[in-house]
Amino acid sequence: ADLGGANTFHLPCTARFSAEVGSVEGLRAVLAFSSAEGVPLKVLGGGSNVILPNMLSSLVLRYIGNRAWWGEWVSDTERLHHVEAGADWHGLVMALASSGWWGVENLALIPGTVGAAPIQNIGAYGVELADVVEEVHVVERASGQYRRLAQSECMFGYRDSIFKQALSEQVVIVRVVLRLSSRPTPKLAYQGLDALAGLEVLTPLMVAERVCALRRAKLPDPAEIGNAGSYFKNPVVPLALAEHLRASHQTLPTYPVAEPGFIKLAAGWLIDQCGFKGARDPSGVGVHEHQALVVVNEGHGRAEDILALETRIREAVQTRFGVTLEREPGFWGE
Ligand code: EPU
Repeated sequence: ADLGGANTFHLPCTARFSAEVGSVEGLRAVLAFSSAEGVPLKVLGGGSNVILPNMLSSLVLRYIGNRAWWGEWVSDTERLHHVEAGADWHGLVMALASSGWWGVENLALIPGTVGAAPIQNIGAYGVELADVVEEVHVVERASGQYRRLAQSECMFGYRDSIFKQALSEQVVIVRVVLRLSSRPTPKLAYQGLDALAGLEVLTPLMVAERVCALRRAKLPDPAEIGNAGSYFKNPVVPLALAEHLRASHQTLPTYPVAEPGFIKLAAGWLIDQCGFKGARDPSGVGVHEHQALVVVNEGHGRAEDILALETRIREAVQTRFGVTLEREPGFWGE
């Protein structure tokens, strides 16, 4: 199967097998095939957070179940929204925000599926998926068993969850349950959203539309330019290192983290300072001109071109700032 059109980096990739299933029964059949034939299974969502190699010897599975979401009231103002994993995340956000539900509006325009969202705990503009998740429902690959994980069991962290750690390659996410509110809970602290704070009337749709505008101004549309969003995580470093760097770089952006003695830096700023913004190598792989944290594939780049640029960026930032950058999207090669 050709996965060239199924990943937002627009990387050419041929997989030995591929399957699309829209139900838990269908999923169990594919799991049984994969174990009977000894073919390793890879689960792909919207393909917006992966670097695919030219060839894959696995079976690439997409869970496409996306029947209309439904809700159950849990208080006068809160409702649990059950959403199937195959639904498009941004479409869901706009539908919920249009219906007056608060909680996910800051996460508008993030590409990918609902089922992929908990894996890296998608986050933007001061909100993380973890803030609104009630449960994540999965099917265990080995047993085919259906399991409901409570929010606390998902071990959410910054761009991290149990699905990247202990349950990596162990389960397939089939449903996400979100706890949303009909009572206004705007989160407008992020620069660019603060302008909405003084308004007399504010709806979640207005916030979502503002977020879309902010993202469009900075981030390339994967339909036009291949990319996987932020290529690196923002590094969390000891306070002492940040203070040392601030002495020579007064504009160093920093963000507080829960862990005492540590602080988060902006990887985009570090990469920008190293002069990579707007760079392109002959394959068309390079760094976005408006946001240095985004690696783009504007030509015929392959996984190896992207990884080579990653190494150059990582080394430059390490040498100049003594900070180690960690890749955010997953690499599916060997
Ligand atoms: N900056 C620069 N030059 C650049 C890029 C950024 O100087 O080329 C500076 C900015 O001026 C700002 C700081 O770095 O002071 C942070 O930049 P920005 O607000 O654009 O956000 P970010 O930290 O680079 C993170 C997320 C994004 C998310 C935005 C908004 C990560 C890895 N990235 O980016 O998430 O949309 O905040 O909340 O945490 C993604 O994960 O794919 C993603 C796009």
